[in-house]
Amino acid sequence: MSLVYLNGDYVERSCATVPVTDRGLLFADSTYEVIPVYGGEVFSAKQHLQRLQRNLDAIHIPNPLTESEWLSVFKHLAQQEPDSEQSIYVQITRGDYPQRTHQPPQPIKPNVIVFTTEINPMSPAMAEQGLHVMTLADKRWHRCDIKSTNLLANILALDEAKKYGADDVIFIRDGIAKEGASSNLLIVLQGLLITPPNDETVLPGITRDLVLKLAEKNDQPYAEKNICLDDLHQASEIWLTSSTREIVPVTRLDSQPVGDGKPGPYWRRMHQQYQTLKQGSH
Ligand SMILES: Cc1ncc(COP(=O)(O)O)c(C=O)c1O
Repeated sequence: MSLVYLNGDYVERSCATVPVTDRGLLFADSTYEVIPVYGGEVFSAKQHLQRLQRNLDAIHIPNPLTESEWLSVFKHLAQQEPDSEQSIYVQITRGDYPQRTHQPPQPIKPNVIVFTTEINPMSPAMAEQGLHVMTLADKRWHRCDIKSTNLLANILALDEAKKYGADDVIFIRDGIAKEGASSNLLIVLQGLLITPPNDETVLPGITRDLVLKLAEKNDQPYAEKNICLDDLHQASEIWLTSSTREIVPVTRLDSQPVGDGKPGPYWRRMHQQYQTLKQGSH
């Protein structure tokens, strides 16, 4: 837990430092990944590494490690606390450059930071309660498909949710519901599971993909299509998905109950199928 992988070395967290002129710090000129670990095993590592590669390509940073090097770093860190549920945090910045210039200097050596944090799985009581979520105008940039560390708009949105008395937000852009502040959105409308299509307005979530695969396998009809505000308000179930929170039921939207205000039967089935998938992975 206290060990950090920093540019090829494993160091104590208190000794893991990057220069103040690191471009990740100055400009959020960096990308990141968050990967869950269950029973000491890294879950869906290949999918996360593929997304990492896609993001590095999108922001023109060379991948500093090979796939097998990444996997061995993940394994080493995951095995520090084999009994707890953890997530691996990976951040790659464009690197350190002494002159503060917006122009990306070429080529510089990326800084690579990897560490683990404990994740607290949702307790049955928390699941039964579900989340209260508020809809909010999406003020993020136009490339939400890139996992950028510039998360200021997400942070401010969560701050607004907290002031309103909600746990999370659903971003609305041009009248269309997109995703949560750190999660993808799925709804159940007349028995159909619906999630927004992967485009530049949402992050292509690994958990979302796994849920769609489980839907396919278990003959649950689903569609990747736009969710308008009416759909959102008429949905019998709303879920948010992410690697650390898995599938979370939303039971209140803008202070109104979703369906009967309790986690629904589609969520219960999918949650169970997801737990089975997790257990099969280790
Ligand atoms: C904006 C956003 N959407 C969706 C997700 C869910 O992605 P994943 O399931 O890969 O964790 C995240 C995760 O951090 C996110 O930040």
